[in-house]
Amino acid sequence: MQSTKLSDNIYWVGAVDWLTRDFHGYSTYRGTTYNSYLIVDEKTALIDTVKGQFKNDLLHHIRNITDPEKIDYIVVNHVELDHSGCLPELVELIKPEKIICSKMGHKAMLKHFHREDWPYHIVTPGEEISLGTKTLSFIETRMLHWPDSMFTYVKEDQILFSSDAFGQHLATSERFDDEVSQDVLMHECSKYYANILTLYSPLVRKLLAKVKETQLPLKIIAPDHGVIWRNNPGKVLQAYDDWSHNKGQGNALIIYDTMWHSTEKMAKAVADGLSDQGISHKLINLQVNHRSDVMTDVLNASAIVLGCSTLNNGLLPRMAGFLMYMRGLRPTNKIGAAFGSYGWSGEAVKLMNQSMKEMKFNICHEGLKVQYVPEHDHLKDCIELGATVGKTLNKFLAGEVTESVI
Ligand code: FEO
Repeated sequence: MQSTKLSDNIYWVGAVDWLTRDFHGYSTYRGTTYNSYLIVDEKTALIDTVKGQFKNDLLHHIRNITDPEKIDYIVVNHVELDHSGCLPELVELIKPEKIICSKMGHKAMLKHFHREDWPYHIVTPGEEISLGTKTLSFIETRMLHWPDSMFTYVKEDQILFSSDAFGQHLATSERFDDEVSQDVLMHECSKYYANILTLYSPLVRKLLAKVKETQLPLKIIAPDHGVIWRNNPGKVLQAYDDWSHNKGQGNALIIYDTMWHSTEKMAKAVADGLSDQGISHKLINLQVNHRSDVMTDVLNASAIVLGCSTLNNGLLPRMAGFLMYMRGLRPTNKIGAAFGSYGWSGEAVKLMNQSMKEMKFNICHEGLKVQYVPEHDHLKDCIELGATVGKTLNKFLAGEVTESVI
């Protein structure tokens, strides 16, 4: 991997992580990149750094362009350690004149690195710093997705360095959006949004409105993970707009776990009920699907039907874990229903309904429990549950308001 030119005197100098398969609980089957950018001008600036173990890759890429010691400013758009893990060693080597960060970035760096003596320069939103021929300005993006997060913009080149936003966990030899499969790119981009940003959708909407209002010219969006949007930055802005408005695609997911296949039989009958109403759907067994992939499907789904057997007066652990994960990400604007098999107590359906209620899902059925193994009539009830979800979804898609039954 070589340093890659984005624009005159602006280069990608980051690192590609081909190996990582887990990013704090998010499955990264295609690895990731830690993007860092170098701007060479009268003052030389490094925008973001990389995860600690990739420091040598970063230095190698910087040395292709200039001596690291010639860097004057390090801009820290985000303090999470995948972008600042090597910062203490870099500061030691570079001895920068300024470490440019947001107010919250300053606080976060003190808590991470415990160095009061670093030359912090806290920027205010809209502040400009001239590098000579190029000008840096800063957009505060607090809670997108950490309190310290900010973007850096270079007006002369119309490049937005967007930190985690618009990123993808995608390790490739290519650096730009037009060089990779669009299906893979948009899948990884949606997975990233689903698992990192869903919770912050209201802030994403505000940010996009601000970008539109200010008519910020954008030739390139350069995120801190994955490929750089140079061909069609509007594509990712539109996708973020859609995702942040929780626009489902009119389909349903049946997400379930099963102990002795009784709940699975119910799941298949629920699917038949959805088919009867012409609803496209997917059966997702949590035993073989990673929660972060399931969340990617949830992002684009309009109805979520949960199925789980009762174990020890509660949920099967995979469903309990998935619900905790999904509740944290707070998807909204979904129709919901629940079902499950039980032996003698049968709390699972009630617990799933509670979870969906907390997420403000529109619950269209009181829930269906079957003791031990379902027989034909039970399966007909499951078909009816699926049909109820389908009918509610069709009304919802036609713009009718439906009340939650719980
Ligand atoms: Fe890529 Fe929030 O770190």
